[in-house]
Amino acid sequence: MCGIVGYVGKEKALPRILSGLKFLEYRGYDSAGVAYVKENKIKIVKEAGRISALEASLNKEENTYLGIGHTRWATHGVPNKINSHPHKSGKFTVVHNGIIENYMELKDMLIEKGIEFKTDTDTEVIPALLNYNYEQEKDIIKVINKTIKMLKGSFALGIICDDDLDSIYATRYDSPLIIAHQKNGYFIASDVPAILNYTNKYLLLDNLEIAKINVNNLIVFNSNLQKINKEELTFVGTSDDAMLNGYEHYMLKEIHEEAKVFKDTFNYYVLENQFKETMPNLKDYHDIHIVACGSAYYVGYIAKYLIEKYASIPVLVEVASEYRYKKNFYTKDTLVIIISQSGETADSLAALRQVKEDGIDTMAIVNVVESSIAREAKYTLYVKAGPEIAVATTKAFLAQTTLLALLTVKLSKNNELLKEFKGIDKNIEELLSRDYLKYAKEIYNHNDAFFIGRNIDYALCLEGSLKLKETSYINAVSFQAGELKHGTISLISENTPVIAINTLDSIRNKTISNIKEVKARGANVLYITNENVRDNFYNNIILIPKVADIVSPILTVIPLQLIAYEVAKLRNCDIDKPRNLAKSVTVE
Ligand code: G6P
Repeated sequence: MCGIVGYVGKEKALPRILSGLKFLEYRGYDSAGVAYVKENKIKIVKEAGRISALEASLNKEENTYLGIGHTRWATHGVPNKINSHPHKSGKFTVVHNGIIENYMELKDMLIEKGIEFKTDTDTEVIPALLNYNYEQEKDIIKVINKTIKMLKGSFALGIICDDDLDSIYATRYDSPLIIAHQKNGYFIASDVPAILNYTNKYLLLDNLEIAKINVNNLIVFNSNLQKINKEELTFVGTSDDAMLNGYEHYMLKEIHEEAKVFKDTFNYYVLENQFKETMPNLKDYHDIHIVACGSAYYVGYIAKYLIEKYASIPVLVEVASEYRYKKNFYTKDTLVIIISQSGETADSLAALRQVKEDGIDTMAIVNVVESSIAREAKYTLYVKAGPEIAVATTKAFLAQTTLLALLTVKLSKNNELLKEFKGIDKNIEELLSRDYLKYAKEIYNHNDAFFIGRNIDYALCLEGSLKLKETSYINAVSFQAGELKHGTISLISENTPVIAINTLDSIRNKTISNIKEVKARGANVLYITNENVRDNFYNNIILIPKVADIVSPILTVIPLQLIAYEVAKLRNCDIDKPRNLAKSVTVE
């Protein structure tokens, strides 16, 4: 949700800022802007649209050595030039990621003092308040400290003050911000990929810490304004992990990394059919709640079926934005699992904090190392997906599914099940090598599509239909196969695409009956299964390898992802940056 990059150093700032912003475009991409210092003055350039539009309006070779940039996902105010960041008021120029919840209150207070506002954003209140406080006390650090304590909501901020054009100031509360040092200067950024072209060493600002950064020096203050030392972290990986490397789209590249992602995740937790100490020993939980958003929520659904089947522990799965505002019932032996690729999703983070306050054990399943959710949960289990750039998640979904299957084995106390994971990477590779275009051609010129399945296959339907919706804007809807006849079957007409998933022996024939019901009403059925039967109830079939139920969803999701990709391509959609979406949703 919005990306921030700043640079101060001996090298030219604009190429560094633009290169960083391009890596952060997945956080928002409806407008962009930079503020930089030239001949002792602040210059601000902003454009609606993608970073490429901003790049076209800038002279990258400008002799500027200090600047802050922003790519926006609009929350308050339409994505036009005036609402784009940076925002300047008086002597303060600011880029912001997050939402200021009390901005109306603050704005009214400042308007009463005669301060004028130009935009519809919540952000503009920040430079205005900084400037107002600065008029009372001319100490930039103290003013930032005072101002951020008056803000409610979430923020990561890059700040420049006209009275100190040699420094960038940075601070945060509940929105991520890192600082990186390279031999000739410093960066601030919302996320590590932004700096990987230059360095893989960084430090993480904690809530309400304030950094003052200039060409030779970085000073970090805590919220009592004492100077503190921060631990330097190293990102394992290279900028190649965040590059296209010859693929046409990040989504395709990331799907093709899935065999590796599976192996990396499995090998991180298991050696010779035994769990390593990276998998924590857990007490006997009476019940489990899984809380997440978007695709991570659907992984939760898969996990529910696996954990209930193999470990006989009841599992409740909830969307985080609902869970945090409802009455939840715990026992002292409830475990709450939060699943999040980014580890920064605002609703998931808020749910985690609430559960912790209630004294319940929490576990985070996270991809981004040292993210807020990773740092705050009692147990943190990392998936080994590496940086995921495409907005629609694919490899992280597969890694999360792998890890939840491993956690199921742990909870079931039946390590024999680990043998079922053997050879799955080869199955993944084989599935990736197939051509899915012919199936996509049957779907792409329809406005609606239906996914049906039972049990764990239904969970996969949810993810398959979400992939299609987000990447190709087809209204793809999922139903439990047995429930169709209770209403939804009225939507099936001649040639309606129906993707039917049927991988479980125990209910195979039941689902086949439901497929026949839609076929009889004219549906064009794509049948995804692991065991063919001699009967004519589908138009096309994808036969996936037959493996144990515990690992089967890891394979089933691959055709669904690649079909969504091919359909989006046939419809000329912006595959890696679908309209209206952002990858890391750090607002409620
Ligand atoms: C956004 C993304 C989804 C993602 C969801 C949860 O909506 O577009 O792809 O599944 O957030 O994100 P998280 O980082 O918590 O997994």
